[in-house]
Amino acid sequence: CGIVGYVGTAQLGTDVVLEGLRRLEYRGYDSAGIAVVTPDGVDTRKKAGKLANLVEVLDADPLPQAATAIGHTRWATHGGPTDANAHPHVGVGGELAVIHNGIVENFATLRAELLAAGVEFASETDTEVVAHLLARAYAGDLTEAMRAVCLRLEGAFTLLAVHADAPDTIVGARRNSPLVVGLGEGANYLGSDVAAFIASTREALELGQDQIVTITPTSVAVIGFDGAPVEGRRFHVDWDAAAAEKGGYPSFMAKEIHDQPQAIADTLLGRVDAGGRLQLDEMKIGEAELRSIDKIVVVACGTAAYAGQVAKYAIEHWCRVPVEVELAHEFRYRDPVVSERTLVVAISQSGETMDTIMAVRHAREQGAKVLAICNTNGSTIPRESDAVLYTHAGPEIAVASTKAFLAQITACYLLGLFLAQLRGNKFADEVAEVLAQLHEIPGQVRQVLDGLEQVREIARYMADTRSVLFLGRHVGYPVAMEGALKLKELAYIHAEGFAAGELKHGPIALVEPGQPVFVVVPSPRGRDSLHSKVVSNIQEVRARGARTLVIAEQGDTAVEPFADVVIRIPRTSTLLSPLLAVVPLQVFACELATAKGLDVDQPRNLAKSVTVE
Ligand code: G6P
Repeated sequence: CGIVGYVGTAQLGTDVVLEGLRRLEYRGYDSAGIAVVTPDGVDTRKKAGKLANLVEVLDADPLPQAATAIGHTRWATHGGPTDANAHPHVGVGGELAVIHNGIVENFATLRAELLAAGVEFASETDTEVVAHLLARAYAGDLTEAMRAVCLRLEGAFTLLAVHADAPDTIVGARRNSPLVVGLGEGANYLGSDVAAFIASTREALELGQDQIVTITPTSVAVIGFDGAPVEGRRFHVDWDAAAAEKGGYPSFMAKEIHDQPQAIADTLLGRVDAGGRLQLDEMKIGEAELRSIDKIVVVACGTAAYAGQVAKYAIEHWCRVPVEVELAHEFRYRDPVVSERTLVVAISQSGETMDTIMAVRHAREQGAKVLAICNTNGSTIPRESDAVLYTHAGPEIAVASTKAFLAQITACYLLGLFLAQLRGNKFADEVAEVLAQLHEIPGQVRQVLDGLEQVREIARYMADTRSVLFLGRHVGYPVAMEGALKLKELAYIHAEGFAAGELKHGPIALVEPGQPVFVVVPSPRGRDSLHSKVVSNIQEVRARGARTLVIAEQGDTAVEPFADVVIRIPRTSTLLSPLLAVVPLQVFACELATAKGLDVDQPRNLAKSVTVE
């Protein structure tokens, strides 16, 4: 979500905040809202849909002139994209307004507590919980109330709050989500990133983890959640407005690749309840029905379908339920065998891909239950499904999918673990262990991203390459196919991903001296035969003159004699390894396309969401 706050001496609140929201709309566009504070109190306007809808509301029913305002542009996590769920949210008594970015993990417990105390809720959001907690904690000092409430919140959040008692003050807080202060002359600003205030000031102050900031037109004071004063880190913003939206990266694609640790971490947030049980977002399929499922069919298109391929290996292994993965458009028109005991899993970033929508409709007509894994709250596919598991990757702007892909794979693992737990098979005891490994992954993806200078260099050097092959086995196979797809989409280079075992049955005829071949190598600590077979495959292509670029686990020395280049990834279990192994391939495609001077965010002939069959 995008967050902006303004306190000044001029009565410009609404205008300045709207300008900030325009620059932040790329962070979320399913609803928007503004709150202003005047000596008469707090007033809000909010509307579902793009910012233009809010502007219409403001034109018809303007907010009072105010020198203090906060605004929000939303990417829904808890609760669909409706007017009621739009921010700001007002706390009991109506004197306080809050906007929020992130996910409050323990919101269900806090909401139950407030309901028991007689608080009435106007929305389904976790944010409204914070608004009511703040209103109840407030005893004349908004900063102190914020501190008390933050200590009760778990998860990730950036919060801004205003109170009618202090019309020249905004209090902000952050944990695991970004918040920056813009330092102006006679005015100060808050933003989820510098794009929020770059039109007004380039002097900024970064807030650290677990800190609270209180701004007035002439002061900025920062404290830790423990109450002790701290110094924020001041910096000067050199970026222009376009670069600021991209967080200083040359493209949204580069930014989204870099954001992947967060996308995975956010998708994992709030999924395990106090009793250690996995939670899905919406589950209108009864537990007995889920236990009786005898087949899972994943339907999806493009990158999302490769997430489904990864899911097949994990879910079959953990749940011992057969999983088929099929391109949605093929599934729909081949008279597929599905029944009441089939669970169809529809994976889609946008939730609007027509091929996938048609597959969902067909599956339901046949009596199957449909579970959506989707990144866009309130979109068609989740609306038409029986259950939903949202990925929390945030809006993906670049046409070719990256962070949504990793979030989809993460969500598929959660689904597999959930089903294993529910069905109580012998794997159920290992769920906690896999979850612990999953929580390590965001840090490990960051390590991969930090160590890719060599891959970037190779990509730039290979800008004239006409064909690249990708090989993998087991979960490395969909990774190879996704690596090839990224290269086709971004760099317009002929690329194919193959199952390494299939090489000898045909594709090896393509290998000639100098042919670049990426090989995704499984962990040698996993099933040994799998590792040694892939190492043999590297040898086979190397013997025919291929240039081998090998993605292998740290410490895997067996690959070294046959690899022209070894790209290292940290150790994890084989089933989770796609989340690490695909990252160098994304970076390779992005870098190579950039070296060719191509627009990586909007490749030719492609659309982000294909709404025709
Ligand atoms: C389009 C995009 C792909 C995406 C596919 C599925 O073809 O260009 O990047 O993977 O649609 O989109 P979805 O929104 O359903 O995940």
